[in-house]
Amino acid sequence: MNPQMKTETSTTVAEVIELEERYQLATYKKMPVVAERGEGVWIYSSDGEKYLDLYGGHAVAGTGHSHPHVVAAIRDQAGKLMFYSNLVYSEARARAAEKLVSVAPAELTKAFFCNSGTEANENAMRMARMSTGRENIITFTGGFHGRTADAISATFLGKYREIGRPNVPGHLEARFGDLESVRALADESVAAIMLEPIQSMAGVTTAEPGFFLALRELCDERGLVLIYDEVQTGVGRTGDWFLAGSAGGSGVVPDIITLAKALGSGVPVGACLVNERIASHIKENDLGTTFGGGMVAMAAVTATLEAIENEGMLENVKTVEAHLRERLSEVPAVVAVHGRGFLLGLEFSEKAAPVHKALLERKIITGTSSKPNVLRLLPPLCLKREEVDLFVDALKAATA
Ligand SMILES: Cc1ncc(COP(=O)(O)O)c(C=O)c1O
Repeated sequence: MNPQMKTETSTTVAEVIELEERYQLATYKKMPVVAERGEGVWIYSSDGEKYLDLYGGHAVAGTGHSHPHVVAAIRDQAGKLMFYSNLVYSEARARAAEKLVSVAPAELTKAFFCNSGTEANENAMRMARMSTGRENIITFTGGFHGRTADAISATFLGKYREIGRPNVPGHLEARFGDLESVRALADESVAAIMLEPIQSMAGVTTAEPGFFLALRELCDERGLVLIYDEVQTGVGRTGDWFLAGSAGGSGVVPDIITLAKALGSGVPVGACLVNERIASHIKENDLGTTFGGGMVAMAAVTATLEAIENEGMLENVKTVEAHLRERLSEVPAVVAVHGRGFLLGLEFSEKAAPVHKALLERKIITGTSSKPNVLRLLPPLCLKREEVDLFVDALKAATA
């Protein structure tokens, strides 16, 4: 990084860093990159460097950075009407809801819009409680569900529940992939089982296909609501629109899917997709949020889903994943590859942080996880074979 280079407004790179450090709470350990512009899988920094972004800005840039179709839709909508709440109808909202439901498993027929992943999960848990009249929620060791009170209390990972103290009562912890641990907890006090169908932050942990089928059966048998937190796995990341209903998830469809991250290509938006049974229990005023369903966010949702569809990105994820896995077999330092589609965890026998750093020095952005020896890849869905080759060559050099 060249600290004396000037940004578009003549501020130096060093000044930008100094200002952020002075005026923003230091809640994130940042990479030494001043991001200025993005295009597809590339991020351009203010000091004239170009980075291959295999982290997708925290899994958000599903369509790639500043996808032209999404940018045009946001610009157009912002010039017409930036926002009005759910107290009025809007074509932008109507189209977004229609489009989202059209790509969802057939059983999920209604959308509730909010602003983030944690908010989607809070609302999903609330709907489960309202529709069953029960209070407890089962989640899993290693799952991450957000940082607001109820969602962080549902997060049995690392120090999160500790940060969120005092926790919301009624959260029960089961072991991911271990049906007996769920059965032992799922009594008549339990409203829902909520899970990340692939646990991303935990180090991209997967479960056997039979686990999902067994959870669905258990929920049906005991009257529980099944919630999939697809904040990371949704909107095309695994090569299907959602893990729910896909072959990778054994075709199992939950009662509620929660979404955020890639849904608006970078415009903050979250959603819950629900089936008719859940919808029948939700009345006026049961849920709400000022900004949910705002027109600019809705325009971003529709354009995001259209871009994924029109450019065959789901197919691209599948073919490029196959190429990536094949090429990774040439890298001796990678001892296993976990996950599905473009949610992958590369396991090393040593710590992954030095690999992350060495790749960054080679201008490639990747992610770490809560498992010290797993590096995460969450690239835009438009990543191409030649960019995979660039990455694998750099990884070979970084780990040689
Ligand atoms: C699986 C999962 N659920 C929920 C969340 C929370 O989303 P947000 O940060 O938008 O509140 C995240 C964020 O990383 C996530 O990965």
